Amino acid sequence: MIRIGVDYYPEHWDRSLWSRDLDLMKKAGVTTVRIAEFMWGLLEPSEGEFHFELLDDFVKMAGDAGIELILGTPTNCPPMWMYRNYPETLSVERTGLPTETGIRGHRCIENPLFRSFAADIIDRMAERYGKNPHVIGWQIDNELSANHCNCRECTHKFQEWLRRKYGTPEAMNKAWGADIWSGQISDWSQVQTPKGQMYSYGWLNPGYMLDYERFAAESTAGYIAFQIRELRKYVPESVPITTNACFCEHTMDFHRSFKDLDIAGYDNYPGTKIPDDPDVVYTTAADLDLMRGVKRKNFWMLEQLSGPMGCWGEMQPVPRPGMLKGYALQTIAHGADMVLFWRWRSAVKGAETFCQGLISHSNVPGRRFREFADTAKTVHELQWLDGTVVKSPVAILWGFEQFNAFKTQYQSPGFDYRDQVKRWQAAYASLGVNVDIIDEEQPLDGYRVVVVPAHYVTSPVTAARVDSFVRGGGTVLVTCRSGVKDKDNGCILSPLPTAFRKVCGCSVDEYDPIGKKDVQIAFPDETLTGSVWCDLLLPEGADIRARYASEFYAGTAAITKNHCGSGTCFYMGVCGKRPLMKRMAKETLESAGVPFIADLPDNVWVNTRESGDGSVRGQFIFNETDREQSFMLDGETMSLAPFEMKIRRIR
Ligand code: GLA
Repeated sequence: MIRIGVDYYPEHWDRSLWSRDLDLMKKAGVTTVRIAEFMWGLLEPSEGEFHFELLDDFVKMAGDAGIELILGTPTNCPPMWMYRNYPETLSVERTGLPTETGIRGHRCIENPLFRSFAADIIDRMAERYGKNPHVIGWQIDNELSANHCNCRECTHKFQEWLRRKYGTPEAMNKAWGADIWSGQISDWSQVQTPKGQMYSYGWLNPGYMLDYERFAAESTAGYIAFQIRELRKYVPESVPITTNACFCEHTMDFHRSFKDLDIAGYDNYPGTKIPDDPDVVYTTAADLDLMRGVKRKNFWMLEQLSGPMGCWGEMQPVPRPGMLKGYALQTIAHGADMVLFWRWRSAVKGAETFCQGLISHSNVPGRRFREFADTAKTVHELQWLDGTVVKSPVAILWGFEQFNAFKTQYQSPGFDYRDQVKRWQAAYASLGVNVDIIDEEQPLDGYRVVVVPAHYVTSPVTAARVDSFVRGGGTVLVTCRSGVKDKDNGCILSPLPTAFRKVCGCSVDEYDPIGKKDVQIAFPDETLTGSVWCDLLLPEGADIRARYASEFYAGTAAITKNHCGSGTCFYMGVCGKRPLMKRMAKETLESAGVPFIADLPDNVWVNTRESGDGSVRGQFIFNETDREQSFMLDGETMSLAPFEMKIRRIR
């Protein structure tokens, strides 16, 4: 079943509204509602005193109304008594001071006392509702991030983690290059978590920082594993457990975090203002492809844009007509089997008063509500797509190693790893080709084209896989900033792209981090624009596809193509503007013999979902622009309104 629903906070509303809301939800076509992820204060108002009446009543009412529930473990917001009675449960900021209460997520996820209170509330909830037939899934905590707490417990855990990894301080000193700036330690207690304001400015040792990010990622994954263990004492295996991932200041490693979870979950808030610069990739489709890649299967959207966002910053423009529906259907196009709109009603109190829901403060269901109901109607008509998946000829390799390493050592102005991945996704998707974004250490079997964008911290596993994939007949595109670092986050003392040099058939003579300046890239038949980074290439067996046509290195190779074994490997030494990336996407698809649609308008996307045996196939055509678009597709004229998604069954 493909589900549609909302996030709801029964604790925010007078009970007299519950039945009206549930009634309206039913009429609007809601199948599923997520609740309870911030409810701990009500469930345990003082230590050891539990009140489940409110939750019991709502679970019963929703169940009686035929609505399925996803329950959140409420551990993001422990009650105030816990912090006041046990201040050590508070997380500690980079300043070394405890986080002050009043926002949310102030708890230290490693603190043993917090863990024991958390285990207790989770167990009680799981025991009470785990076998309730209306509870069809569980969400762990809320929008978890990598654990950047600086308390004594976390510092000790980090020291232990390093001890396990390196065995001796000397081995760690060597790996980090700690002789530089006298960073050597002689005892584990001398290592601290990265405190202080310099953290984000690249002043700290990159070996240390990358290890710290690895530790922080493992700590969060460990916390998830702890919650799974508690839930599974009572929740049957048939009921999936997930969590709602998001990109944030300290994004958790999705691949590690979801390893033991049953299904990937995500929160999707596309921007409501379309940028004026045509070079900006504003679609969130790459995030969706990445989430599908996390477990290499369909996922759940646990929060989806409902209204103008506010609270964390100034209010954003209200979603334009068509946006709510188009963006929700886009998640299904990319493999979501559930979309829950955050949130049913706008809050009237609290910090998020202006993070708007489907029903605004007027309490009169209006345009956004009607668009939601229309979306729900469409989703109910789409059940023929149940069981279908996205099959992709193209894989883009993503690594949280890279994401974290780039966070602590900046490259050229304008270079952003996630943005580069998004831009490659858009380049292929603009040609109507499905794209998987997978963990860089996953097998590559079954793909025809593999893109390796900025594989900076070199994984020998990935390098070996890429090499044999090409030799076996595949097509690969490797980009600049690949092969730069070793696993200790130190530079490899060899010409770039080091581990990829052979398969690419070229090396980098020198590079120019030109930043946000245009550079001309000449192909035999046209000249396109690049920017941000320029590798000056020396072909070592590869053909030159394009040369720089500006700067002091005009005439030098910028893009090469190497035949290696029975396959082909492109090396792209420059970051492209969108037309240049699209051209390279086309060249790689042509080289691999993958069909594509050449002439879609910009920001109009076509992709497919199909059943395992290919007998059911749905095509999604999405106009992700604020203008009407008319174009030819399969010999037919297609006209799409702004943000309109057309879904049709094809053979
Ligand atoms: C996140 C959170 C929600 C809410 C929304 C609003 O996605 O999970 O609780 O704060 O953001 O932006």
